[in-house]
Amino acid sequence: MKIFGFIGSPLKKKSNTYTLTKMMINKLLEKNGDIKYTLLTSGDVNIQSCKGCWSCMTRSPCPLDKKDDMAFLKEEMLKSDLIILGSPVYAMHVSGQMKTFLDRLANWYHTLRLAGKPGVTVSTTAGSGLDEVHQYLQLLLSYQG
Ligand SMILES: Cc1cc2nc3c(=O)[nH]c(=O)nc-3n(C[C@H](O)[C@H](O)[C@H](O)COP(=O)(O)O)c2cc1C
Repeated sequence: MKIFGFIGSPLKKKSNTYTLTKMMINKLLEKNGDIKYTLLTSGDVNIQSCKGCWSCMTRSPCPLDKKDDMAFLKEEMLKSDLIILGSPVYAMHVSGQMKTFLDRLANWYHTLRLAGKPGVTVSTTAGSGLDEVHQYLQLLLSYQG
């Protein structure tokens, strides 16, 4: 089994959301040491903002995929059996870094590219916004199948 997790925090391994997600993965590893995983934060990768060109809808793939790490991230997701999306609460919702990542997957909400893969959402907060983040991330996971 392979797990892919993306955390929309710039804080890399110092991120609370990364730390919580890693604790969850460690629990799974205790049960099955053969599990492979890729767990990255937005601080580990370069993801450019969607330019709104509509190429992904009409002439896939996205032209930005050649310039940043999204092609690699998409490949990792397609190769994985379980997808984890994690975001800190920023201004009562997902972080801008997570939204930038999700915008770059716009085509996948119409093509069910992750069909059949279970998904897990993770969020941390100073006190508010958890429901908004989980609901939104679960919605977008379900739109990808
Ligand atoms: C720019 C910014 C906006 C934040 N907005 C909220 C908020 O609206 N509500 C809240 O309870 N916490 C808010 N927080 C606190 C974070 O959600 C909290 O510290 C979280 O654990 C950070 O996760 P991370 O370490 O994975 O980045 C905000 C933090 C930052 C840096």
